[in-house]
Amino acid sequence: ETPEQHAAFEARIQRGEKIEPGDWMPAEYRRQLIRMISQHAHSEVVGMLPEGEWITRAPSLRRKLILMAKVQDEAGHGQYLYHAAETLGATREAMLDALLSGQAKYSSIFNYPTRSWADVGMIGWLVDGAAIKNQTMLAGCSYGPYSRAMVRICSEETFHHKQGKEMIVTYARGTAGQRQMAQDALNRWWWPALMMLGPHDADSPNSGVLTRWGIKLKSNDEVRQQFLDEHVPELLEAGLSIPDPLLHQDEQGHWRHGPIDWSEFWAVVKGERGLNRERLATRQQAHQDGAWVREAMSAYAARTAPTA
Ligand code: 3HC
Repeated sequence: ETPEQHAAFEARIQRGEKIEPGDWMPAEYRRQLIRMISQHAHSEVVGMLPEGEWITRAPSLRRKLILMAKVQDEAGHGQYLYHAAETLGATREAMLDALLSGQAKYSSIFNYPTRSWADVGMIGWLVDGAAIKNQTMLAGCSYGPYSRAMVRICSEETFHHKQGKEMIVTYARGTAGQRQMAQDALNRWWWPALMMLGPHDADSPNSGVLTRWGIKLKSNDEVRQQFLDEHVPELLEAGLSIPDPLLHQDEQGHWRHGPIDWSEFWAVVKGERGLNRERLATRQQAHQDGAWVREAMSAYAARTAPTA
């Protein structure tokens, strides 16, 4: 990698040009994108599990159909993102091996249990709400395939968020039991949703180079602030209380949260707390259950391969 190549690349980023798969790029740009996009894809696939376990227990056919559509969308998001990572030279097999072996990260939020049906609504409101803030930011990123995948994913994510919010508002206005179920879900998902957007900027080692190369257009804390400023007023308006006694508005009107327990975050990311083992075991079982399909496809490919 010559200084001239780097200078030309940085100039392209400054001009706001999209970097495409065949273009020259620093090895670190490629590595960072494979890291980020593959973890994003893993998050979508693992993210199907917490909600998927409620499909058979939905309270009505309408809710069941909505949840099925949402979980299917997450699978599709995972496919777009694995494809985006493949445009950088990553192989599907290597990425899946990294996930199944426990070596790859996926979003901490999906290691939390879904204890009641209201969790499905709260995941839609908070988790998809946070994902929209993050993914809308990434829709402007400098790597073409990733930014285009984000545009498509964000439009589907908006449906995910709205269905969750509509469900929670209904329960918050419902019977005392429904309101309590919604409040319990908020109490359990509020802090994990704030943590999902990543460590504070001062503790975010990847942010520097990601920002310099136009991958991250907003910092972790800026995206978290956007999330707070939109969703705090709406949750309060729904009659719910937010489990942060230090939450307050500053003089500019921004909502300021109390200290985040980053020891919990890292324990969940490292699999020391939460359902990491169960989530990986479910994925490993699904991979084993699908082995016959892969064997059949490779046998078919071998039989139909053109003879030399
Ligand atoms: N869960 C697990 N690991 C996390 C994390 C989280 N919520 N937030 C940060 N980390 C990890 C990072 O991966 C990094 O570790 P690594 O260097 O070994 O990969 C380390 O913590 C330090 O964090 P950084 O802030 O330096 O890392 P990033 O600059 O990559 O920022 C991020 C973290 C904001 C999550 C960024 O990676 C990102 O924007 N990723 C793409 C979006 C994404 O992955 N979203 C996950 C949710 S998907 C989803 O919500 C689907 C929806 O349909 C529900």
